[in-house]
Amino acid sequence: MTSVGIDAVEIWTGKLKLDLPETFAPAQGDDPEKYTKGLGLEASSFPDTYEDIVTMGANAAKRLMDRKGLAPDDVGRIDVATESAFDNSKPVSTYVAGCLEQVYDGDFHHANKGERKFACISGTQALDDAYNWIAAGRNRGRAALVIATDTALYARDSSGEATQGAGAVAMLIDEDPSVVALSHEQGYGSADETDFLKPQQQFPSVDGKRSMQVYLARMREALEDFESQASTHPEDFAYVPFHTPFPGMVRKAGLLGYRHIARNTDLETEIAEEIGRQPREEDFDDREGYEEAIQSYMDDLKRTEQYQDWYDAAIEPTLSISRQVGNWYTGSVHIARVSALLSAAETGRGLTGDRLLVASYGSGAQAEIHAETVREGWREEVEALTVDEQLRRRYDLTFEEYERVHDAHNHDLDTEVEEFTQPSGEFVHAGWGRMNERKYEYVE
Ligand code: COA
Repeated sequence: MTSVGIDAVEIWTGKLKLDLPETFAPAQGDDPEKYTKGLGLEASSFPDTYEDIVTMGANAAKRLMDRKGLAPDDVGRIDVATESAFDNSKPVSTYVAGCLEQVYDGDFHHANKGERKFACISGTQALDDAYNWIAAGRNRGRAALVIATDTALYARDSSGEATQGAGAVAMLIDEDPSVVALSHEQGYGSADETDFLKPQQQFPSVDGKRSMQVYLARMREALEDFESQASTHPEDFAYVPFHTPFPGMVRKAGLLGYRHIARNTDLETEIAEEIGRQPREEDFDDREGYEEAIQSYMDDLKRTEQYQDWYDAAIEPTLSISRQVGNWYTGSVHIARVSALLSAAETGRGLTGDRLLVASYGSGAQAEIHAETVREGWREEVEALTVDEQLRRRYDLTFEEYERVHDAHNHDLDTEVEEFTQPSGEFVHAGWGRMNERKYEYVE
């Protein structure tokens, strides 16, 4: 089988920005460092009043199709991953296709369309579905469009409010890809959990602290499952992009992951000279004693040069976009990958043939780990991105404006709010149809 993976990627950020240390923290009466140092966030992206999951997804997809010179006939599958859907029947991908058909000759009538749901992990699951479709030889030479799009809004004054975000990632999945090829091997950690859910409601019910524990527990299971098939030695991977609800979460996941993948390797032996070997459960009489020893080992590990060097090289570069935009739910792990590749391009690092270990997570809950091999065209693809410009051009909201924008996107409120930015060369939400469907148009 030829390799299958991501041939191109595009990003669309919500066009508004909430500065967390400057604007949100003072209004909450919080120390700004809770956001910048604790959560690791500088800002959140928000959708302007004419933006939603469809416009952001369609705008990212159009940018991708234009850049790759694609016509609708080249695409045999459109899957949208989201946890912000507004319809229990009609999938977001039909709206996205409808938008794209307004601006391209031809149509997507012969493309299979769907919507994937499993909290934040569904973007990776949609990638997986596209991979399987192509690997099974059912694609008739056509590529798949996978779009992860979310407005990650939380109820006002809830614990998650600081980690909000909005944006879309469009990925073209194809044979012989230019950016990364996906590994055949995968590891899963999956269990029935109630850490974060939206039972027929717009804003999530969240047990924030529990969701962090569940993230780590499922991630460990996924790692064990992956390790049963393939190597996870830290030196085998240039970068480790994690699902990033906020960078502080990845700081915890990185430490746990490193302890795991360094175990029984030359690295554990090297580190042991300074802090001893990792505690093994069989050496303890009870679980409590073992857990105390693990905690103390982790505190020491965090301070070792080996761990800090690995974190600075393999993890830190994956967090740069997330720090500026907050949580994009289904798109979050995919912007972590883009951040890493952009960092390599900026520093002139050669990456072709190097590997990434990609760690996805969705509440409810499931983690998945797979590897990716960077392909020759990666640099050209990421250098074509306009992420920095998009982030720079966002409208910087005052707190009072933020409150109005939040209300404008609240499905239970009927609030008229003027837009803050002028749309240009993009799809916008233009109103409602007779069956309460959303209407979209392209603004030149
Ligand atoms: N300076 C530096 N750090 C500070 C600080 C300050 N002034 N004030 C707080 N912090 C640190 C805290 O110690 C904590 O770090 P730690 O976990 O390493 O100890 C971090 O900032 C967050 O502070 P905390 O008080 O725990 O925040 P919170 O309880 O208000 O909210 C979440 C944290 C994650 C519970 C909340 O953002 C949430 O519910 N998010 C949505 C769910 C989510 O994203 N889950 C993740 C898994 S998917």
